[in-house]
Order: sequence, then C-alpha cells, then structure tokens
Amino acid sequence: MSDTTTNTGVLSSLAAQPGGVDIVLDHVTKRYPGQDTAAVEDFSMRVEPGELVMFVGPSGCGKTTTMKMINRIIEPTSGSIRINGDDILSLDGNELRRHIGYVIQQIGLFPHVTIAENIAIVPRLLGWSKARVAERVDELLRTVQLDPGVFANRFPRQLSGGQQQRVGVARALAADPPVMLMDEPFGATDPITREKLQAEFLRLQADIGKTIIFVTHDFEEAIRLGDRIAVLGERSRIEQFDTPARILAAPANDYVRSFIGEGAALKRLALIPVSDARIGAADAGAPPTTIDEAASLREALDALVLTGAPRVNVTRAGSIVGSIDHAAVSAALAGGSDAQGA
Ligand SMILES: Nc1ncnc2c1ncn2[C@@H]1O[C@H](COP(=O)(O)OP(=O)(O)O)[C@@H](O)[C@H]1O
Ligand SMILES: [Mg+2]
Repeated sequence: MSDTTTNTGVLSSLAAQPGGVDIVLDHVTKRYPGQDTAAVEDFSMRVEPGELVMFVGPSGCGKTTTMKMINRIIEPTSGSIRINGDDILSLDGNELRRHIGYVIQQIGLFPHVTIAENIAIVPRLLGWSKARVAERVDELLRTVQLDPGVFANRFPRQLSGGQQQRVGVARALAADPPVMLMDEPFGATDPITREKLQAEFLRLQADIGKTIIFVTHDFEEAIRLGDRIAVLGERSRIEQFDTPARILAAPANDYVRSFIGEGAALKRLALIPVSDARIGAADAGAPPTTIDEAASLREALDALVLTGAPRVNVTRAGSIVGSIDHAAVSAALAGGSDAQGA
C-alpha cells in the first residue's frame, strides 16, 4: 500500500476484495463550468458486487461524465459515491484509481514502452516485486489470448487494433481491481473483432466476477453483455434499469422502445436457452440438423426456419433428448418475462 494517503484502511479494504464490491451513486450531479444545464443530474444507482451493468444512451447524454466521477477523473458538483461502503470523495484520487481498472475506446497504451511494460504500470506503482509483476504480465497476456512469447516485448504499434484493445483490458486487470470501468472499450474495432472481444470478455467475467460498469451506445452489445442495463436519456436520466430480458419484454416508455429498435422478440429469443422451452418427445422424422439444449431459442428458430421442418431434435451432450417446434418457441416468449433474469 502507498503511504501517500491518510486513508489506507479504506483502500486496503478495496484491494482485499478482488472479486467485486458494490458501487452506490447517491444524487450525483455534475455541472461543467460555464454550462447552463447539468451534464449529469441527480443520478442515483446501486450496482451489486460482481455485477456487470451496461450504460447505454446516445452520444452526449452524460455516460462518460457519470463513469469518470466514479474514479474521480471528474469531481461531482454534488452528491456522494460509495464503493464497498466507503465515500470515495474522502480518498486520495491517484490511490483510488490504482484500485479501479479503466478501459477506454482510445485504448491509450503508452507508445514508447513494450506491451509487458504497459501492463506492469499499476503493479509497479503498487510496489510489487519484479518477479511478481513478470508473472502477472505473463498470466494476463494468456488471459486475453495473446501469447506472451510473441507479444510481451512488442510495442503497441506492432499490434492490430483488436490486439491493442486486449492489452488495454489486461492492463486494467493488472492489479486485480475489484471495480472495472469500461468506456466503449470495443467501439473502435470492426464488427468481427468486436464480437470476438465481447465473447472473450464474457468468458473472462464469468471467471473473475468483477463489479463492472460498461458504457456503450450499442444496444445489442448491452443485451449481449449486461447483467442489467441502464438506458440513459439526457443528463444521464435513468429511463429504465433492469435485466436485458425484462427491458426487451416490457420497455418502460417510448424512449426505451426506440432504443430497442426493431425485432424485440428475436432479441429476447437470443437470451433464452432451449432448455427453458417446452421440449416435446424426440421425433424420428426430424431433419438431421439438431440443436443443443444450451443453445438459444433464436438458434432453435434459425434451425426450424432453415430446415423448414415442423420440429427439430434437441440434444444434451450429443444425445437426442427431445424436440422443439415453433409453438414451443412462441410459448417461451409469452411465458414470464422474469423467468430468465440476470
Ligand atoms: N469538460 C467538459 N466541459 C464542458 N462540457 C463537457 C465537458 N465534457 C463533457 N461535456 C458535456 O457534457 C455532456 C455529457 O458529455 P459526456 O459525458 O461525454 O457524454 P457521453 O459520454 O454520453 O457521450 C455533453 O453535453 C458534453 O458536451
Ligand atoms: Mg462518452
């Protein structure tokens, strides 16, 4: 622990909780100097430990401002923010930021030092031994699917955009912070790389269980990644804050509806596993195409549409355990929007 702060007890408590802590914003307002209207007005929210909350809203609605108040890159005009019960405004800002991972769209790797040195920055600041830092860098590069033997000693410009973004995530995770703030981290990558990064990120989060706030303007990304989504309007006004399934099933107002866009039913199907639907008896006459029970109902519908068959067989660990038809898919949509929570 650093000795530069008066509040090491609080920070120790943060550092000791790598698996996630709660974040509470209480009536937080930010007014930039010289602006008539607030950028963020009276924002209150509680994020549970280990939860992945998506902020989704149009450009300029205040997402970045809200996020940057949590690691005190921006100071709130009024209101309070607590992490793990501690008022962050009473902490040393630099020290606080060493315990909050931060990933941004522009990545922001230091161009003149190697990938390994980029990842090592915060652990070094925290005074880790050389050996511990080296071990951690190695581990993190593997975690984000970059071979340390190939990438550790390269410079950022020698990596693709997607690879650099992975390094950005590794760097944010370096000191195993309990909180991660991610501001449109995959926004600058092409759609295919983006989908890959999202899938990797979901696997990673399943292992590490950090408390994460993730900003995006892409509602599809919010649905795919979030435990809960906060749909934000002007001045970061919370229009709805709920699970993807419930927002899709019952949008709070026209604003949220406009964000969901077309195809809400199909988007919901993507969130429901086949095993949640009514599975019928196996059908000997069904086409050779089968669907695993862990796949989504959207994939099941895909199989039904593509084969043109009335039902396709459902498998578990490769063996056929039943079958599913169009009616079962529709019934799963109608049956309880809260059946599939976070
Ligand atoms: N440093 C600043 N000074 C004055 N106004 C700002 C500053 N940063 C952001 N704003 C304004 O605050 C509002 C919210 O911005 P921001 O939080 O960046 O939105 P988002 O991340 O949702 O695009 C915008 O109207 C923006 O122009
Ligand atoms: Mg922004």
